[in-house]
Amino acid sequence: MIVSAVPLAPEDRVRLAPANVTVADFGRRDDTLAGALADADGILVNSHVAVDAELLALAPRLSVISTISAGFDHIDVAAAFKRGITVTTTPVLSDAVADFALGLIIIAARRIGEAIASVKSGGWDVALLGSDLRGKTLFVVGFGRIGREVARRARGFKFQVLCFDVRPEIQVIDGVERVKTLAEGLARADFVSVHVDLNPSTAHLFDATAFGAMKPGAYFVNTSRGGVVDQAALARSLEDGHLAGAALDVLQDEPPNPHDPLLALPNVVVVPHIASATVETRRRMLECALDDLATCLRGEPCANALEVR
Ligand code: DGY
Repeated sequence: MIVSAVPLAPEDRVRLAPANVTVADFGRRDDTLAGALADADGILVNSHVAVDAELLALAPRLSVISTISAGFDHIDVAAAFKRGITVTTTPVLSDAVADFALGLIIIAARRIGEAIASVKSGGWDVALLGSDLRGKTLFVVGFGRIGREVARRARGFKFQVLCFDVRPEIQVIDGVERVKTLAEGLARADFVSVHVDLNPSTAHLFDATAFGAMKPGAYFVNTSRGGVVDQAALARSLEDGHLAGAALDVLQDEPPNPHDPLLALPNVVVVPHIASATVETRRRMLECALDDLATCLRGEPCANALEVR
């Protein structure tokens, strides 16, 4: 039995045959969910479903968790591995997210959010000056698949590109300089774009110290996870004019508290975690997750399974 957190069309269910598939509301930890999970061999979730120890305890037969996301911070992977459960992700969204990150960089640099808001409220400010990208330094923090795609695009916009990644095995690409420390990159960058996983070592990686280490007038862009940012510290850096602007696809709480001070700042653009949200990419992610789930349930090796650490 497979329990899915997302509705599935007949052509999606075929990819999982011959397993029986049922759709359940994972948002309600009630008897209906418990009843469905009691027989689950596999579950299909997305990044909005917290797969924690409590949920895992409801699924004694579970052998595969397939998430329709590249990130897996919503899953208690250690608890899953302890039970021998395979966890698969969908690392097929790098181009869509990299395109979006560049979009946010341009929105921040050219003050497009402020321009739209001003015209909608009757203004026509022809002197809304932004920043060139050409010749500026972009610091890509986290140089995995997405970070590399951001760097490739940024070279096309004539950025000088720096990167940082704690993994020594990560390969740098032509035209990109790898810096030795986060602090060095922050001190040199005009723009910072974040592409790290959220885990205990990256939680609040961008705190008051990190923002203080950034150049005055720099821009901060985040398409990774909200939890890597101390939002109060970011808001202070923007309010006091140290940073020129920020563009955020992800927040600590999604949706945010409507009174979150970040939302009220004119030099901040916030969008609702849509960096991978194109028709093509979301379809590719779903198909990847379905196929991986079927592969793992057949007991076959799956390239997108997380490695047991
Ligand atoms: C991902 O795949 O991790 C994206 O952030 C969407 O959740």
